[in-house]
Amino acid sequence: MTKKIAVLPGDGIGPEIVAEAVKVLEQLRKEGLDISLDYGLVGGAAYDETGTPLPGATLDLAKSADAILLGAVGGYKWESLDISVRPEKGLLGLRSELNLFANLRPALLYPQLAGASTLKPEVVAGLDLMIVRELTGGIYFGQPRGIRTLDNGEKQGYNTLVYRESEIKRIGKVAFDIAGKRQGRVCSVDKANVLECTELWRETMTELAQDYPHVDLSHMYVDNAAMQLVRAPKQFDVMVTTNMFGDILSDCASMLTGSIGMLPSASLDENSKGMYEPIHGSAPDIAGENIANPLATILSAAMMLRYTLDQAEMADRIEKAVSQVLDDGLRTADIHSEGTTKVSTSAMGDAVVAAL
Ligand code: IPM
Ligand code: MG
Repeated sequence: MTKKIAVLPGDGIGPEIVAEAVKVLEQLRKEGLDISLDYGLVGGAAYDETGTPLPGATLDLAKSADAILLGAVGGYKWESLDISVRPEKGLLGLRSELNLFANLRPALLYPQLAGASTLKPEVVAGLDLMIVRELTGGIYFGQPRGIRTLDNGEKQGYNTLVYRESEIKRIGKVAFDIAGKRQGRVCSVDKANVLECTELWRETMTELAQDYPHVDLSHMYVDNAAMQLVRAPKQFDVMVTTNMFGDILSDCASMLTGSIGMLPSASLDENSKGMYEPIHGSAPDIAGENIANPLATILSAAMMLRYTLDQAEMADRIEKAVSQVLDDGLRTADIHSEGTTKVSTSAMGDAVVAAL
């Protein structure tokens, strides 16, 4: 059966980097991968056309697809819009409408890029960590929220951090299962010393750990976790955390690997239907210049093959092809250094296809 992929390029560098991942998928299609690609609008691009960052047609397309490939959303142009129609709402709406609660963000250092990290090569060499971020709950979605005017006329902004036990358990299970296939260690990150909500997070993770005798559970406060990520990142195998902490820690982890332009992600529902996107944003400052790094998006397509399309072998091939182009010394501007060859977005995509 043909697998249906919804392609949502979005804003900024989104269309450029998605085009390169599509080149890779088209190549695999020529070799027999049975997929169809349907395009939709999301984010600012959708707002400009339709007045909403998540048009009904896009939501229908995403719901009917087996997997979604997304570029990025947002940009200066839409920053002054009301928060309810900002491009980011399109992305958050997709995550929540499709129940994509499990966000996997692997931070893997390609040895060829050890020198591109701002940290000492010996600190990051061999880094292979997986951040499991809860994606449809927490302070991103908690009610009540808003900006209100107090009796004295002063404005007050407020958001709510909430997690139900069942939400904590279901993301915990994902983390424990993944750790079982890796080094068997989960570090749960919270702020249980201050926030009751994450005290419950810690208790629930501790209880859940009893079902996983072969996985080692540890806990860490988020401030310490941020410090440990730059001090000694190789101590981690799997980190599991809340929506907002995961957002912050995954950007931090990305720099360990040399560039935020290298990190893919998968956002999965209970049935491994998934949305795949680079963890970086739309980078409006370099949009349209053909200089962005398409590798995070190409590696996201590899995750799609692995987690939703059951094509682990093709996923391996993409990852090897990426490694090959790095071996060949090809680098986009973000990872370029002396002695390597600077290439454009499209040249990088072509090189990955050739290396396949
Ligand atoms: C991410 C992004 C998004 C988030 C934004 C664009 C809404 O930063 O995927 O990490 O905060 O989740
Ligand atoms: Mg983020």
